[in-house]
Amino acid sequence: MSDGLRTGVVVLGVLASGSGTNLQAIIDNIETGRLSAQIAVVISDKANAYALDRAKKHGIPTLFLNPADHAGRSAYNKKIAEELAKHGVELVILAGFMRIVTRELIEPFCNRIMNIHPALLPAFPGLHGQKQALDHGVKVAGATVHFVDEGMDTGPIIAQAAVPVLEDDTEETLSARILEQEHILYSRAIRLFAEGKLEIAGRQVKVKKTD
Ligand code: GRF
Repeated sequence: MSDGLRTGVVVLGVLASGSGTNLQAIIDNIETGRLSAQIAVVISDKANAYALDRAKKHGIPTLFLNPADHAGRSAYNKKIAEELAKHGVELVILAGFMRIVTRELIEPFCNRIMNIHPALLPAFPGLHGQKQALDHGVKVAGATVHFVDEGMDTGPIIAQAAVPVLEDDTEETLSARILEQEHILYSRAIRLFAEGKLEIAGRQVKVKKTD
């Protein structure tokens, strides 16, 4: 964003397909005053996503949008964009949303969609980033928050956190160590956006300095 520093509360729309621990971390940070944001709606493609239950417990509006009710991926993304706009969403947060995001959603929210990925991008994009890292034998793994473009985990990188890979790690133990960092990292990136401190220039995301 290049229009000066924001001061208000950023309105979030969260898309999630699964357990929603990243959503929970964001909710907790908002409720404890560490993140100046409001979640206007949580949308899921899975009727039974635990993320929806988490939202309901905190009085956050939820919406299950069934992909099968839409005529293909584009129509589905268009519907999501409409719902987000209806709820006044300024920043879209993908938190374990297991669907391809298309231009019908990306264009109306250009540079206003974030994703978190459980690997140090550009290494190990796509599914099972943690397993890919283990199989490759890297010594350092981690998490990445990035803006979403039309590629698979290819958008400009906002923030990363590294964790060590231990010799006796399994996919589960490494995933847990990464997830712990994800919960800190995502709110940090959202806070920078809320404060109007993120500037995108091509692939570079710069954090504006304040005095
Ligand atoms: C996380 O590992 C995240 O990096 C990936 O999906 C997982 C979501 O976990 N995009 P949760 O639903 O937030 O617990």
